[in-house]
Amino acid sequence: MIELIHLRKEFETVTPLRDVNAVIKRGDVISVIGPSGTGKSTLLRCMNLIDPPTDGRIIFEGEDITAPGYDASMARRRIGMVFQSFNLFGHLTVVENIMFSPVETLGVSRQDAYDKAMQLLKQVGLADRALSYPDELSGGQKQRVAIARALAMDPDVILLDEPTSALDPSLVGEVEAVIKDLAQSGKTMLIVTHDMRFSRSICNRVFYMDEGGIYDDDVPEVIFDAPRKEKTRRFIKQLKVLELMIESDTYDFLGDGAEVDMYCYRNQLSPKHAYRIRSAIEELVRQILLPELADPKISAVVEYSEKSDRTTITVRYNGPPFDPEDTENDLALSMLRIASDSIVYDRIDEDGFTNRVTMELSQS
Ligand SMILES: Nc1ncnc2c1ncn2[C@@H]1O[C@H](COP(=O)(O)OP(=O)(O)OP(=O)(O)O)[C@@H](O)[C@H]1O
Ligand SMILES: [Mg+2]
Repeated sequence: MIELIHLRKEFETVTPLRDVNAVIKRGDVISVIGPSGTGKSTLLRCMNLIDPPTDGRIIFEGEDITAPGYDASMARRRIGMVFQSFNLFGHLTVVENIMFSPVETLGVSRQDAYDKAMQLLKQVGLADRALSYPDELSGGQKQRVAIARALAMDPDVILLDEPTSALDPSLVGEVEAVIKDLAQSGKTMLIVTHDMRFSRSICNRVFYMDEGGIYDDDVPEVIFDAPRKEKTRRFIKQLKVLELMIESDTYDFLGDGAEVDMYCYRNQLSPKHAYRIRSAIEELVRQILLPELADPKISAVVEYSEKSDRTTITVRYNGPPFDPEDTENDLALSMLRIASDSIVYDRIDEDGFTNRVTMELSQS
């Protein structure tokens, strides 16, 4: 359906896409992952010609949409895009946002555009918000309107760039449900998302981007569970292993809590398990270690094992020998014991750390 041939995109100072090649088939649902700055957003923007490639070709249904003279608005009509930040028109109501492009660029009658918009709003569960303004909606609702707006053009392909990453975690589910429906209806989609749980549940392929191109292209089971190529392996390990560095008592615990939540979410851990992980780190690091250490340098590594369905938290720190069991903070210690099934202390000498605590938490 779409063929990317030696696609290249240069900016003044960087060339994120050096040589991108891929064949995307009708009905493919592909998640695009990769380190920041590897050109995931750039690739999507090139594909619908918002920001045309510098070189190479995009063949869409047999037609070269990068050929000189090709009408870019035609490509944008057939390849819709949904952005992380919604990009709705603030001065238009929800229904007007959805009607806008069909009326303005396709010349659809206002009545037909309205009927279609209402049908799409129903599809994304927002029929009752047609006359609201974007400001009056939650992030999840805005993103569903943005999806409806992309669908209003009847695109053959939809490109979504981190559609849920600007949302409060409690609103992610409603947007994912809409995307999932689309995937199941056979719509061809490329979605930039690092959410392994979501990706596994709807995608048939994963593109891992690195080194100026699509470095790896495989099914989710292979990419997420047994990646064959070195860089993919390293990147997936980073998604699966969370490392927190704590260096002073002005440390951002809220930010870390959010990172732990994201980690648990990506790894499909239950809210209860996530809570136990957060509280184990909170009690050990914040309540017991930080007050104890003169010049704290603490590393906390969280790793969930699907095989054993357990999470291991390894906390290493500097200073003289100190077993957390010897703390005078009895409350923190008993909370720590509730959060984790086992707590093992030993002395070490590695990477500047002298103490280590290993905790095991089971899911159930
Ligand atoms: N309009 C632009 N002008 C100049 N440089 C740009 C432009 N857009 C992107 N870049 C650069 O191109 C590179 C790739 O950016 P891109 O946004 O595609 O990365 P990404 O993979 O989507 O990253 P992230 O995961 O952070 O969203 C970056 O180095 C970025 O700074
Ligand atoms: Mg991006």
